Amino acid sequence: MPGVHVHTATPEETQALAARLALALAERGAGVVVGLLGGLGAGKTTFVQGFVRVLPGGQDLYVTSPTYALAQTYPTQPPVTHMDLYRLGSLDDLEMIGYRDLYFGGGITLVEWIDRVPEALPRERVEVRLSESPDGGRDVRVEGFGAGLDEWVKKACG
Ligand SMILES: Nc1ncnc2c1ncn2[C@@H]1O[C@H](COP(=O)(O)OP(=O)(O)OP(=O)(O)O)[C@@H](O)[C@H]1O
Ligand SMILES: [Mg+2]
Repeated sequence: MPGVHVHTATPEETQALAARLALALAERGAGVVVGLLGGLGAGKTTFVQGFVRVLPGGQDLYVTSPTYALAQTYPTQPPVTHMDLYRLGSLDDLEMIGYRDLYFGGGITLVEWIDRVPEALPRERVEVRLSESPDGGRDVRVEGFGAGLDEWVKKACG
């Protein structure tokens, strides 16, 4: 089975998982794109909150989905850029904001609804897929694609 599966009973548990991934990615050093998948209210933004707040400089940041700005960069160490493709329909929209510089510029980029623009899906990425479980919690699958990332995810989050 690829990746790691975690059940979270509360938003705080989802944020704790995100924090673990954030610290491991920060230590890894290389840039990475993390795609966040799952329907409305699945917990994508909740995950981003836990991810950003554990990093140096992030503890007091108010993290919400970027609506007007299409990409929001937080002054954490390393810096994290947060995007939400729900309202960004097309590859043209992404080209307009210069997404390649964000995706491949060496930072950490968290992208809600990354599957909305499949043409821009980077080959190397981490995916976090959240879904509501029957008990009201969330099933979270973290999976790596390309460049040995799945093995890395299993060590970091398993
Ligand atoms: N185990 C859990 N993990 C994450 N969120 C949870 C959990 N249990 C309940 N919730 C609640 O579910 C909601 C998730 O909302 P959130 O904004 O994070 O979703 P989203 O996936 O970003 O949605 P959208 O697609 O609208 O941006 C929050 O109100 C959160 O408190
Ligand atoms: Mg959201």
